Amino acid sequence: MQSGRDDGLHVAIIMDGNGRWATARGLPRKVGHEAGVETVRRVVRAAPSEGIGTLTLYAFSSDNWRRPKTEVAALMQLLRRYLAGDVDELVDNGVRLSVIGRRDRLPFGLGAAIARAEAATASGRKLHLRIAFDYSARWAIAEAARNCAAAGDISEDAMASRLCGAVASPDVDLLLRTGGEKRLSDFLLWECAYAELAFTGVMWPDFSAGDLAETVAAFHCRERRFGGLPDEALQDRSAA
Ligand code: IPE
Ligand code: IPE
Ligand code: MG
Repeated sequence: MQSGRDDGLHVAIIMDGNGRWATARGLPRKVGHEAGVETVRRVVRAAPSEGIGTLTLYAFSSDNWRRPKTEVAALMQLLRRYLAGDVDELVDNGVRLSVIGRRDRLPFGLGAAIARAEAATASGRKLHLRIAFDYSARWAIAEAARNCAAAGDISEDAMASRLCGAVASPDVDLLLRTGGEKRLSDFLLWECAYAELAFTGVMWPDFSAGDLAETVAAFHCRERRFGGLPDEALQDRSAA
């Protein structure tokens, strides 16, 4: 599972900057998160035409529980509303939705709402949208290791296929973080072993379909070597 070439690219996005976007406008942080959901809709609609087959969006990290209760409650409410209001459009557009992360700490009813949305969209083939919620890569890796140990197979393939439950996904091709910070914040540490990294100062609520197209175009100009040699060097060696 080196690259999502056959099934499209796997693009992962750390959607950062909602709070600063709102604060800069004199608005409560919650309004920034609401604007961020609009960007999710824009990006999900644009993804298939950019050749993206899997899109993983970081929406709530396991460390985000440290935020004030009101902000955490607002984020939980936004996921609840998204699941209630957007599933029909996802189905119409052939989008399969999975939510990755812990389920045992979510408010009452949210786990069931996630399961319903996953079941309703299960036949989507155009795009696999994965929302990372109460997600920690270290937790996901430790969980996979515990499951592998129980099954008696701790190989890399077994680990990769057990990350984030039953829904295996290809390695990440392109990891983008908006909002100006240049760190991973415990996101997809295993799956990003050979991901191309992209950072933009654009705050997530301002991120446009054009920004996505530019980011993907720049990705296609990168040379991925996976530890090997560039193409010309391989030709030189066989000619010698
Ligand atoms: C990203 O935006 C969304 C979540 C982490 C839930 P932030 O809320 O981190 O926004 P900033 O980084 O404070 O601007
Ligand atoms: C990472 O953003 C998590 C999400 C975007 C969901 P944070 O804003 O929580 O990360 P740090 O605190 O800047 O590392
Ligand atoms: Mg942030």
